[in-house]
Amino acid sequence: MRIELQNFTKRFGDTTVIEDMSLSVASGEMIALLGPSGCGKSTTLFAISGIHRIDGGTLHFGDRDVTRLPPQDRPVGVVFQNYALYPHMSVADNIGFPLRVQNLKPAEIKRRVGEMAELVQIGNLLARKPQQLSGGQQQRVALARALVRKPDVLLLDEPLANLDAKLRLEMRSEIRRLQRETGITAILVTHDQIEAMSMCDRIALMKDGRIEQISTPGDMYERPASRYVAGFLGNPPISFLRAEAKGQLTIGADNALPLPHGTAARGPITLGVRPEHFGPQHRGPSIAGQVSFIEPQGREDLIDVTLPCDQRLRAIVPAGHDIALGQPVTWQVDLSRVHLFDAEGARL
Ligand SMILES: Nc1ncnc2c1ncn2[C@@H]1O[C@H](COP(=O)(O)OP(=O)(O)OP(=O)(O)O)[C@@H](O)[C@H]1O
Ligand SMILES: [Mg+2]
Repeated sequence: MRIELQNFTKRFGDTTVIEDMSLSVASGEMIALLGPSGCGKSTTLFAISGIHRIDGGTLHFGDRDVTRLPPQDRPVGVVFQNYALYPHMSVADNIGFPLRVQNLKPAEIKRRVGEMAELVQIGNLLARKPQQLSGGQQQRVALARALVRKPDVLLLDEPLANLDAKLRLEMRSEIRRLQRETGITAILVTHDQIEAMSMCDRIALMKDGRIEQISTPGDMYERPASRYVAGFLGNPPISFLRAEAKGQLTIGADNALPLPHGTAARGPITLGVRPEHFGPQHRGPSIAGQVSFIEPQGREDLIDVTLPCDQRLRAIVPAGHDIALGQPVTWQVDLSRVHLFDAEGARL
């Protein structure tokens, strides 16, 4: 089911938190709403689910205008961060709750609950109460309950936030599997870039109530539309250097790079270099500085190089090197992979 949100505006009292936002999600697509705390991710999700009334704009599911439809009439399943399971009900009753509200026959409810429990692999836990389950199992119950009415749209608000690192990893692929198997159109709200990149077909990166860029994970990583996007994606993060473009790129008094091919930039700019594109193992023009920090990561080390102008570049260097703290180094930058941004932060 295609989702089409157009010119969406949301206010709380006098404060406008979302202004004129448009988003379309293709049928069967899973899209991430990614962004820092307070940027409006949950607000957008609540508007699509119908929990929040919208102050401007329209929402369509396929050809149907659902802008004014109450939440219970929307073909939507929602999973919240805290799962919101009913503590006094068994797993089976939790999953079957949306069907009992619809007054389905008990035999039919039982059949569909069993089917859902199999899908999320908790068929053996149906008699338990939520507090007798692990976090990951509770998460699966919440998913089964969201899917049991066979909705056209699945909305997930930080569904993995309460799980430990290992379970998060497991549930990441589990949710993606379910989404693919059911072919449901899904929106995942998260502030975790790894989650967004690994689980979704596309990412809508939000900032202050608007979408800054919407693209596939690969494209957003390779061609960030702004300094904000470049800084949000990537772990360890990209390094930014202040530079001056004037025939070449001057970085402080002691370092300069040729202008990357095709740029006619002039004046002050920001140069963005990802740590995997700078180091002793690369080819390209070089930058000189001094090793100011080494953080072993196992397979590789993160190494900070501080330039004479006191700006810092981070490098990922394969482990087994003999680089020491304080050592002067002249390392190469993969110039074809660097990013340039103007004074306002837009990509050049
Ligand atoms: N019921 C409300 N009344 C007033 N302001 C609200 C209400 N709900 C949200 N806001 C404000 O709207 C903005 C967006 O909130 P929202 O919950 O959508 O952020 P979010 O991106 O989901 O953040 P987080 O990652 O912290 O969950 C915030 O500034 C928040 O304070
Ligand atoms: Mg939120």
